[in-house]
Amino acid sequence: MKYIKITFLLACVLNMPRLMAQSPVLTPGNFENVTIGDQDITFKTTNAYGKIAAYSPAIIRVRLDKKPLGADFSYAVTGTPQKTKVNITQTDDAVILLTDSLKAVIQKKPFSIAFYTTDGKAISQDEQGLGTSWIGESVTTYKKMQDDEHFVGLGEKTGNLDRKGNGYTNWNSDVYGYSVLADPLYSTIPFYAGIHHGLAYGIFLDNTYQSDFNFGASNNRFSSFGARGGEMNYYFIYHKKMADIISSYTYLTGRMPLPPLWSLGYQQNRYSYYPEAEVMRIAQTLREKRIPADGITLDIHYMDRYQLFTWNKSRFPDPARMNANLNKMGFKTTVIVDPGIKVEKGAPAYESGLKQDVYIKYPDGTQYTAQVWPGWCNFTDFTSEKGRAWWRNQVKFFAESGVSGIWNDMNEIATWGQKIPDNVLFDYDGKPTTHLQAHNVYGMQMVRSSYEGALQNFKERPFILSRSGFAGMQRYSAIWTGDNRAEEDHMLQGVRLLNSLGMSGISFTGMDIGGFTGNPTTSLYTRWMELGAFIPYFRNHTALNTRAAEPWAFGEDVLDIVRKYISLRYELMPYIYSSFYESTQTGMPVMRSLAINYTFDPKVMDATYQNQYEFGNGIMVAPFESTAAFGKVYFPEGNWYDLYTGTEQKGGQEVTIPLKVDKLPVFVKGGSIIPMQSLVQSTSEMPTDTLSVHVYNGSKANHYVYYEDDGKSFGYQKGDFYKRAITFDPDKHTITFDKADGNYKSHFKYIRVVLHGFQQSASVKTGNDKLNLQDSAIAFLGATANTDPQGSAASSETCPVKYVTIGNAANRIQLNF
Ligand code: GLC
Repeated sequence: MKYIKITFLLACVLNMPRLMAQSPVLTPGNFENVTIGDQDITFKTTNAYGKIAAYSPAIIRVRLDKKPLGADFSYAVTGTPQKTKVNITQTDDAVILLTDSLKAVIQKKPFSIAFYTTDGKAISQDEQGLGTSWIGESVTTYKKMQDDEHFVGLGEKTGNLDRKGNGYTNWNSDVYGYSVLADPLYSTIPFYAGIHHGLAYGIFLDNTYQSDFNFGASNNRFSSFGARGGEMNYYFIYHKKMADIISSYTYLTGRMPLPPLWSLGYQQNRYSYYPEAEVMRIAQTLREKRIPADGITLDIHYMDRYQLFTWNKSRFPDPARMNANLNKMGFKTTVIVDPGIKVEKGAPAYESGLKQDVYIKYPDGTQYTAQVWPGWCNFTDFTSEKGRAWWRNQVKFFAESGVSGIWNDMNEIATWGQKIPDNVLFDYDGKPTTHLQAHNVYGMQMVRSSYEGALQNFKERPFILSRSGFAGMQRYSAIWTGDNRAEEDHMLQGVRLLNSLGMSGISFTGMDIGGFTGNPTTSLYTRWMELGAFIPYFRNHTALNTRAAEPWAFGEDVLDIVRKYISLRYELMPYIYSSFYESTQTGMPVMRSLAINYTFDPKVMDATYQNQYEFGNGIMVAPFESTAAFGKVYFPEGNWYDLYTGTEQKGGQEVTIPLKVDKLPVFVKGGSIIPMQSLVQSTSEMPTDTLSVHVYNGSKANHYVYYEDDGKSFGYQKGDFYKRAITFDPDKHTITFDKADGNYKSHFKYIRVVLHGFQQSASVKTGNDKLNLQDSAIAFLGATANTDPQGSAASSETCPVKYVTIGNAANRIQLNF
């Protein structure tokens, strides 16, 4: 016995140095072997397996795992590697991948990776000594914090535009009435951009486990990203321009399909409009008071005791009739759906789901049951094709009731108690897994099912809205930022959330205008509604027990202002629709943080100006609290015009402007081309046959693409669109309309070219014809939103507005000014 004890002690002592040396942090170690392919390398290190592959000259993917790499599967990425010329060389110390735009140097001992421009500037480097490592199942990559490095993006994240000094977690959460600094919120978009030394890059971590990002929070050494399980699997993107980084990111994760035009109109909502008479009263009042609108949204009370795929028949006896009537009035109906299906014997949807075995389960094979609006519920497994197919069929129910939009809520998944057990199982498309891996992607797979179900069952383009999401959700759905508060800082925070979502590939975004919880002050409501005219999804929404928030609920003065701004949005619809079209092609968001077009201008990161953004290509919005009497605006390079007065402002300046609650500061960049139409009350109403193309004089050429189609069918996919490049060239003194492209006939017979800031011009020429310019009595907003008559007078002195009307011939038209 004594002998055994002594031997044991001896063994412990002898092993001590080894035990002590064994780090709880596992690193990849040194390269052991490497296989070089055409545009990728596969390798093994002491403790890891990896693959590094070029997807394009600008995109390099890095995969690392403790075990041999598993099958390649992603819910986010649909883009495949493009054939890319990559020069791969190897020395004793490193393997180098060189593309036309990027160099990746993979150090062998120990493994680390660094990215350089082709002329050798460091873009991003693993932090020496830290690199990538595992603690248990968690994996993290640490990147050297570059001097004066800034970070933007990461989707729906609160805080400043510049994320430096902060850390964030991705775990989709139901955060009712969240505070302005809350994290995490409802969705996970693990994509961000780093900016330093005039360089910018993007990193997308494709991993659905809980992920954590650190941009120099509580440390002065690194930025890092990691996940609580799965592979280290990230894409590194480098371009000279942020817009191209977003374009490459959306090449990988997809772009939004063209939404129906009606979804860009004003949407009226509250929790909840019922019964039918109340819905019709809202619709009629919007029309009577001449508040343009396209959508009415029904919250959970339309259902029978919150049971999915039902109508409460005493509140809505004939939904198909009601929706048809709404359609006749120019309204489309959107209804809410939640993932929880009430466990109720005999309920058709519940029973059918049970029979087809679509609900998520515990490991012992019993359905997972949790409480949400209807009481105890089961939840469809949207990560299984079977579950999605079942849901797609259920969507027929909405098609039969004449519904046009599906609003997917509570899909984080939200349950009372907010703690779904880790051991709930999901199919994960044939790779069964736990809640830990499936949680963050659940909401996205729900909207995928709704979108595909709508494609299958609706006759026209559907509108899908979601609260929760994951990278790539833009392929199926718009997003809104959930249960915000009716507070000034929430409005501004909301702007930043939408801007950040836009930089992270999601263009179609909105927030509850007016605030969801609490009651806005009259001025806050007014300012928020003005702002709503300049955000992609414009929906007024408020909670159950708050005061009325329809445009007429705050008195006549507010109604006048709100009407003007909503009307302005409808006049801008050709511009807005063209911006959405651009987004479907390039991923460029509709709402653009200044960090996109003015990435390296340090003023853009200044918290004073971080709420400013461009809405489409040319318009800049400067949001301020409704209570402020003055505000500081930063005008980036170029020249800018006050939208209302036409007053010109040189760029590169910070200017303090007076603020009035009836006017949202909006500016137009010199060189901009802004197509507008006459006022309509809904997108289903035809505007007059003249398209006004506003051109703002500037020193830089601008190439703009105008886009039009029927706004509702899928005909555009077969060429039924009308697309036309319009170029403003100040050096050549020309405005050119290229030959129209596509099979669709433009609605507009005439084009009115409205010239802003062209001091000298009394005439323009087209070919040999001299066309006399007419003085325009109106500034940009015409009579509709110009709330400052003095401003209007001033504008005609400082910046004459003139116009000429020409026929909308399909051939090339050139105007010389
Ligand atoms: C959630 C949604 C909110 C909705 C409410 C009732 O809180 O975020 O928009 O009104 O549920 O369905």
